[in-house]
Amino acid sequence: MKTKDIYHVIGYPVKHSLSPKIQMQLATKYNQDIAFTAVEIEPQDLEQKIQEFKSNPSVKGLSVTVPHKEKVFAMCDNSDELAKDVKAASNVIFTEDRQMIALNYDGLGIVNDIKNNHKVSIKNKSVLVIGAGGAAKAVVAAIIAEKPKSITIANRTKSKADDIKKLFAYKYSVDVASFENITGKYDIVINSTSASIDGQMLPLSKDNFGENGFAYDLMYAENGTIFTKWCDDNNIKNADGKGMLMELSKAVFKYWRNL
Ligand code: ATR
Repeated sequence: MKTKDIYHVIGYPVKHSLSPKIQMQLATKYNQDIAFTAVEIEPQDLEQKIQEFKSNPSVKGLSVTVPHKEKVFAMCDNSDELAKDVKAASNVIFTEDRQMIALNYDGLGIVNDIKNNHKVSIKNKSVLVIGAGGAAKAVVAAIIAEKPKSITIANRTKSKADDIKKLFAYKYSVDVASFENITGKYDIVINSTSASIDGQMLPLSKDNFGENGFAYDLMYAENGTIFTKWCDDNNIKNADGKGMLMELSKAVFKYWRNL
């Protein structure tokens, strides 16, 4: 008898992840007999766990969340164009010969959600991205493709914001701003940090938002994150990352299952 195909979402922490629920709903809808579970992996155990997945032929794919996106990319044998561009994996597919391929659907997820579900156009808008990890790079790549007026990055560790500026310099001039002292007004503010998981608010003020400003948190929580709650309190239109996860989950599910 053929064993069930297995998929995991990996992160640290990962208990809050909606991925197992979303993927199992998709599996029911498309009549796919799979198992999808969350596996919490501490950073020091990542390498060993990845080797275990790789040597288990039933494991067919991974979803990757904070803080593993860049390290998992580095462990892959190959990657799609998007993951290669940003050197981070949002997902992985294992091939028949157990090659591990890095995929990146983060940019597709956020842009589809902002444009199609929240009806906010990115074209000619000033965009502030806070954070400079693996997710931020994918977000910046996808935002560039939407032809914004400007992209500014602010990160707690400024050198990582500078690295993103360098990464895209060949095609777009990204601005780097101070994290502690964010000045200027933006049409769209994207929180790509994991600060919300730690229950920490970002050093933003209402004045950083232009008229009709829109805020987006890549993190999500049942009743909104600390960041989206702050936006609610300040009458700023906002969304957390559930819609992005839904969009990217649909796309990667179809790819994994060859539908
Ligand atoms: P991901 O792959 O999901 O982007 P990551 O690579 O671990 O995850 O990146 C996490 C981002 O959140 C980083 O920009 C990090 O800032 P540093 O580069 O200074 O580490 C940011 N971050 C995490 N916790 C934060 C906090 N409490 N306040 C502000 N930024 C935070």
